[in-house]
Amino acid sequence: MSEATPYISKTERFRPKITPTPDRLRGKVAAITGGARGIGRAIALRFAQEGANVLVTDKDLEPARETAAALEQFGAASKALRVDVTDREQVDEMIRTAASNFGGLDILVNNAGIIVFGSLMECAREDWDRMMAVDLTGAFQCTQAAGRFMAEQGRGGRLLHIGSTASLLPTAQQAAYCVAKAGLLMLSRTAAMELVRFGITSNLICPEGAVTDINRNLLSDPAVMSALESRIPAGRMARVEEIAALAAFVASDEAAYMTGAELVHDGGAVISALWWR
Ligand SMILES: NC(=O)c1ccc[n+]([C@@H]2O[C@H](COP(=O)([O-])OP(=O)(O)OC[C@H]3O[C@@H](n4cnc5c(N)ncnc54)[C@H](O)[C@@H]3O)[C@@H](O)[C@H]2O)c1
Repeated sequence: MSEATPYISKTERFRPKITPTPDRLRGKVAAITGGARGIGRAIALRFAQEGANVLVTDKDLEPARETAAALEQFGAASKALRVDVTDREQVDEMIRTAASNFGGLDILVNNAGIIVFGSLMECAREDWDRMMAVDLTGAFQCTQAAGRFMAEQGRGGRLLHIGSTASLLPTAQQAAYCVAKAGLLMLSRTAAMELVRFGITSNLICPEGAVTDINRNLLSDPAVMSALESRIPAGRMARVEEIAALAAFVASDEAAYMTGAELVHDGGAVISALWWR
């Protein structure tokens, strides 16, 4: 691209056709944390399109309600619930609500997350604590509550965790985020080991990036977007629907034999460090 050419995001130009698999999740009950927006919302929509009943939880109730209402067009039973994943009582209420409203819980998606930017050397203690509280301890609380419930329920289950390529590689100016997401990787693997005998799988999805509220400000700068996309061999960020498509497979019966896995969803970014461009 010459310097005179204005940058146009390839994400906007490339629109893969994504078709849900009808009935793949029929009869399943899913709870999604951080389901009001972004990736969590896309997963909620996709699960409903495949027949699941979905409990949309988020710390922000109003947008969670909007997401839950949007699921009704697919004939899914849905409900919104305020759940701040840092609050154990609210997490336990999420499980109770799934049981009382939908008759159980088959799928938990640990999606709620925040990002605190900055280097390790400059990271303030309160930023570190906030990062760990939401992305790691929050996921621990949901995993433990759902894992105990699913084991007792005795009909197997799926634990999905939304990690990041930052779960695998240190990323500049994202020190605390990387550590929290790397912790999530081991949380997922440990849950996989403890729960496999109950037919419960635990897997980590590692997106490289999709434009959502978590990064919209940063990526609204064309120079930043261009730099980011140019180091992704696929030449673009993901669409949230693509991440949701992977989540639907991992949540399905088809993925029963896969547990403790890291599913890197990155347009080739992670393996390209030594590749000439
Ligand atoms: N967007 C990306 O490029 C990208 C890349 C890799 C990983 N991820 C991960 O995907 C997940 C979803 O992020 P997103 O991009 O959709 O961001 P987003 O900001 O659009 O959505 C995150 C949602 O989580 C909710 N949330 C935040 N703190 C919470 C808490 N304490 N309790 C309950 N809900 C809470 C927010 O209200 C929001 O609705 C995050 O875990 C993020 O780290 C995102």
